[in-house]
Amino acid sequence: MSDKSATLKAGDIEVELPILEGTEGQPVIDVRALGGKGYFTFDPGFMATGSCESSITFIDGAKGILLHRGFSIEDLARDSDYLEVCHMLLHGDQPTKEEYEEFSKTITRHTMVHEQLNMFFHGFRNDAHPMAMLCGTVGAMSSFYHSDLDVGDPEQRKRSAHRLIAKMPTLVAMCYKYNVGQPFVYPRNDLSYAGNFLNMMFSVPAEDYVISPAVERAMDRIFILHADHEQNASTSTVRLAGSSGANPYACIAAGVASLWGPAHGGANEACLNMLEEIGSVDRIPEFIERAKDKNDPFRLMGFGHRVYKNYDPRATVMRESCHEVLAELDVKNPLLEVAMELERIALSDPYFAEKKLFPNVDFYSGIVLSAIGIPTNMFTCIFALARTVGWISHWHEMMSQPGQKIGRPRQLYTGHSKRDYTPVK
Ligand code: SDX
Repeated sequence: MSDKSATLKAGDIEVELPILEGTEGQPVIDVRALGGKGYFTFDPGFMATGSCESSITFIDGAKGILLHRGFSIEDLARDSDYLEVCHMLLHGDQPTKEEYEEFSKTITRHTMVHEQLNMFFHGFRNDAHPMAMLCGTVGAMSSFYHSDLDVGDPEQRKRSAHRLIAKMPTLVAMCYKYNVGQPFVYPRNDLSYAGNFLNMMFSVPAEDYVISPAVERAMDRIFILHADHEQNASTSTVRLAGSSGANPYACIAAGVASLWGPAHGGANEACLNMLEEIGSVDRIPEFIERAKDKNDPFRLMGFGHRVYKNYDPRATVMRESCHEVLAELDVKNPLLEVAMELERIALSDPYFAEKKLFPNVDFYSGIVLSAIGIPTNMFTCIFALARTVGWISHWHEMMSQPGQKIGRPRQLYTGHSKRDYTPVK
């Protein structure tokens, strides 16, 4: 913290507002006293608002830096694995070898969902969007754990967190199996987190699915790259839902709903659909012009970011992974050629340079997922699977903070002033 302050003069008031400093990043001006002085701050879209204090993830958008508990995303994507990152995010630090083994065993033993949860799927049409099914089944999970929903109990919060991290791959795979009309595949305790997910996605009763180590590694890396990202829209949604005391399954279902939007987690699906619509390299200029046209709502999906005004460090890692997987699987994905040419043209175009629109994590993840054989409409479910640990870690951090208050923003009211009412009848 700091002893600095900002002086705000407005009308006939003058108020000293404390400036708070963290360990990294921009200081914040604490405006909590302002409400009592007759003013609210106004910041639709939270362009310049810090909503909380957190020690989980740090992003420097100008430098393209992403740290989880101080460890860089580049180091973690190269040398760690998703379960170790989950431990860091949720429990606060890198696990010892013993802690890692214990955590891994705990997660493995929570991967099965209650057998009755299967029935929820049979209420959906089989062509239901997987995100619709995921929203519904995650929220429904709270109905199976009534004895463990005391959000004030740290042990119950941790158990819920472990259940959610463990069961999301099972639920996501069930969404896919329901869409393709194949039987659900039970989780297996002898497989890695990523391997188990791939097996539940692609194994069929007639034959076992052979897990390619390169695909397993790429899947685990995709989970790492999507695990957490500070106070993005879906994480902020989870925090706001949790601030009312809602149970963790309801909060994560709210996060899934928010992530679904094409401006957020839905961008990877939208990006691949865009690449398919572009179809060939010679049509790229037409779409670049549309992206620049203010009168055209079209945007280059997978480009731009609220925070990163430099390359998204995850996109850099994702790009490398993309090439590795395509080489390993000997996949000649024409969409990658379109993607690479689109990236080259966009990055050399002054419009994108001056607006600092760089490829984000969603730009390449769709191509890797497609190469692995995952259908486009499943991409955001994969994102939700990976981001569950980020959501639940922020929820747990918020619920652990003393004096946590319900989130209740105010507004600038521009409607009618009081007026007389005459009953219409
Ligand atoms: C994720 O917040 C997170 O951390 C999110 C995320 C995470 O891990 O949780 O990183 C995951 O959601 C990544 C972003 C995925 N979304 C997309 O790829 C969709 C396409 N991108 C845009 O919709 C947009 O860039 C956003 C939503 C990502 C950011 O929007 P902002 O910060 O509100 O910026 P803006 O819409 O105000 O755009 C600034 C300018 C505008 O031009 P002007 O009005 O100033 O003239 O840049 C233009 C926009 O028109 N612009 C784009 C563009 N993105 C912004 N123009 C063309 N193509 C784009 N993709």
